[in-house]
Amino acid sequence: MNEKATLLVGGKSYELDVITGTENEKCIDIQDLRSRSGYITMDPGYGNTGSCFSSITYVDGTNGILRYRGYPIEQVAEKASFVEIAYLILYGELPKPRRMKAFSEALNEHAALHTNLEHHFSGFPKDAPPMAILSAMLNLVACFHPEVLEVHADGPEFDRTAALLLSKVRTISAFAYRMATGKPFNHPNPNLSYCANFLHMMFSEPYQDFVASPVVERAMNLFLVLHADHEQNCSTSTVRVVGSSRANLFSSVAAGVCALWGPLHGGANTGVIKMLEDIKASGKSITSYIDMAKDKNSTFRLMGFGHRVYKNFDPRSIILKKQVHDVLQELHLDDSLLEIALELEAATLNDDYFLSRHLYPNVDFYSGILLRAIGIPLNMYTVMFAIGRMPGWISNWKELHQHNQRISRPRQIYTGYTERPFVPTAER
Ligand code: SDX
Repeated sequence: MNEKATLLVGGKSYELDVITGTENEKCIDIQDLRSRSGYITMDPGYGNTGSCFSSITYVDGTNGILRYRGYPIEQVAEKASFVEIAYLILYGELPKPRRMKAFSEALNEHAALHTNLEHHFSGFPKDAPPMAILSAMLNLVACFHPEVLEVHADGPEFDRTAALLLSKVRTISAFAYRMATGKPFNHPNPNLSYCANFLHMMFSEPYQDFVASPVVERAMNLFLVLHADHEQNCSTSTVRVVGSSRANLFSSVAAGVCALWGPLHGGANTGVIKMLEDIKASGKSITSYIDMAKDKNSTFRLMGFGHRVYKNFDPRSIILKKQVHDVLQELHLDDSLLEIALELEAATLNDDYFLSRHLYPNVDFYSGILLRAIGIPLNMYTVMFAIGRMPGWISNWKELHQHNQRISRPRQIYTGYTERPFVPTAER
């Protein structure tokens, strides 16, 4: 049945198509509303506005459902490697053994950086934010691979470029850490898994290779799988907006890194740890922080809480909360911040301010404690999120082009001065 919506405005009636997705989500198609009626719609922050049709990831915020190409996050988190999930998100199907082998070989083939590219790290100050380095270096990679500037979503070069990005984001991130700590770069080792290779590049020393324990490797794999895509979040939408101008894939994902950096988005995982450390150091009660978060005169927010889409729970937070316990136990670690986090979560579950606003722990609330447990330094947390989200960014950029989507160009309602004559300096 072709469902319709009727809009009565300005004394006229306009019939608009209703489009239904495969999960029975519905939207009112307003693509020709302005040309027919002269009216636009207004939705700052796009909380009620669809920007695209996508078949990559499905999120049901009411029921806490997250699926990558139809596979539930709970199943892929438990059974899949990040490389498998990157392939699934990019190509729509889980890789058969032969494709998986070829994909892994491509990641290995492109793991190293051009030596001239390595020299750029020495130009950064030691305390440069790793997200700034990551965004800059991702753009720079295109200078050493000019062929990627002309990559098309369906061209033969796309597969190579996607593998190149997925692999080099990991090398660039590890080199940013090594540069900041004044240590020599560790070059990628093709005999290691995606995660083990990253940990090797981060933590091996000239006198001793770092060999990740299975627990640590598994924890990092889980972290990356859980962050691999999340439909039209702020950074993925940024990648789409930049890509819609037909900007190349590298500059599009470099823009995604910048959007992810914000404390309301990917920067929150760092914010959570800083908040928990502050609570621990202050000696103040959990209640005082809860009260501050509720106080409209305070800019303080509980980092890692709330979500534009999830209104009951973030399924990733549930998985991470369990994993954190297991990893700390297996590594015989005790993290007092976990106790504070659990106490904070428990306090909000009985507080109407949070319940009435549907504020629950999101993916960032426990992820920082997991990263802490596996030894990732605090200033690299959001970089880890970017490594995880790279498949989602690349796949959304590809889908945008496959749908031949128009350039993103929102409208506005002007609220400034009406026309007025220019005033020469002498008369001002
Ligand atoms: C990610 O979109 C995605 O999918 C993102 C992500 C992904 O995988 O890509 O899931 C990853 O970015 C998770 C979110 C990480 N950010 C944080 O943890 C930062 C803290 N949370 C927020 O600032 C906030 O909850 C957002 C940014 C996540 C959502 O913002 P919204 O949807 O615009 O909600 P809002 O700011 O309009 O808040 C609604 C109400 C307000 O109170 P009232 O004005 O109704 O009285 O809830 C309050 C807010 O003040 N509120 C909070 C709060 N978050 C919202 N109050 C205290 N602490 C908080 N954390």
